Amino acid sequence: MEKVENYYADYDKKENLSFDSKVVHGALGCDPISGAVSFPIFQSATFRHRDFGVSTGYDYSRLQNPTRQELERTMAILEEGVEAFAFTSGQAASMSVFDYLKRGEHCLLCDDLYGGTHRIVEDIFKVNGIEISYVDMFDLENVKKAIQPNTKMVFLETPTNPMMKVGDIKGIAKIAHAAGALFVVDNTFMTPYFQRPLTLGADIVVHSGTKYLCGHNDVVAGMVVIKDEALSHHFHIQLKSLGSGLGPMDSWLIIRGIKTLSLRMKKHNENAKIVAEWLRNHPKVKKVYYVGFEDHPGYEMNLSQASGFGGMISFELDSEESARKLLSNVKMVLFAESLGGTETLVTYPITQTHEDVPDDIRRALGINEAFIRISVGIEDPQDIIDDLEQALNS
Ligand SMILES: Cc1ncc(COP(=O)(O)O)c(C=O)c1O
Repeated sequence: MEKVENYYADYDKKENLSFDSKVVHGALGCDPISGAVSFPIFQSATFRHRDFGVSTGYDYSRLQNPTRQELERTMAILEEGVEAFAFTSGQAASMSVFDYLKRGEHCLLCDDLYGGTHRIVEDIFKVNGIEISYVDMFDLENVKKAIQPNTKMVFLETPTNPMMKVGDIKGIAKIAHAAGALFVVDNTFMTPYFQRPLTLGADIVVHSGTKYLCGHNDVVAGMVVIKDEALSHHFHIQLKSLGSGLGPMDSWLIIRGIKTLSLRMKKHNENAKIVAEWLRNHPKVKKVYYVGFEDHPGYEMNLSQASGFGGMISFELDSEESARKLLSNVKMVLFAESLGGTETLVTYPITQTHEDVPDDIRRALGINEAFIRISVGIEDPQDIIDDLEQALNS
């Protein structure tokens, strides 16, 4: 089909701008036709062809949509990749990543993972003939030993959800590539504000866009960003065939969320440090898992590859009773699943995010009835602490 003028074809990658400016100005930023400063929401399922054999470059929104494209281009700019793809959820994004594997191939994953990712590989891909294994990726020797002749993908979260283990992105990339495998990093916790895995050797970055990218707990979304154009076809086919592309309204909300990503991440980072210190000194808290503590085993590694620690903390209380008390009695802090929004959330992994992970695996990691995950929001940190204190003492 012949293409006519596409006003959205060319955009500036803004390589001369700093990250804080890139988040605000996106790819095109303004609408090139009307000049609208807020990029339009193209709430259209299909696009008119002016003549036989003539297209504007947009045909049908399952394939491409200018609003989704603006988000995808923005994410490619921020993660320093060649192309990005926006999905209806982080799970849909991960599904498309694992769908790259063929029957008989092996995928190696870190042993601590978001429960939904564990469910995808166990209940769908393993059942369909993909070999799956897990290893603690903090130690590179473990990764080397776990590589098999048919390993085609290595998948890392760093820091992990919920145990906050750190993996060496550069080191694992070398091992994966020597084995001829793709290296995928889930960058949900750090976001490109703190960590850009594609610049450290990863081939694919995946995100739950629901979290910090959106930032306001009002959209479920996922992102994939790739470093090599050779991967582009796979993800285009996935979006085109599965129809799992993010809708225009939700794409716009994520574009808007990203505009304040830098401001929010700075505040999450500051607040989490204060809350983590307070937790560590609380008599009812047995252990705090936070990558910003100098005595965290992954502290140095995290600092070598990320410019901050993020807003996530996990901790173990002295008893199940204390955990129940905390979850039942918080007032400003919200007892809810998810993370990365402006509001501080407390989550109970054993019955929420990691419900489907087998109990022996959960217990070996340290996820028990007294274990809580907190996503520290951007409120006044003293209000967060006061609320947690009153809930623990109720
Ligand atoms: C690290 C991580 N990756 C992926 C996902 C899945 O994302 P979504 O809930 O948007 O499908 C989550 C969700 O909590 C997550 O925490």
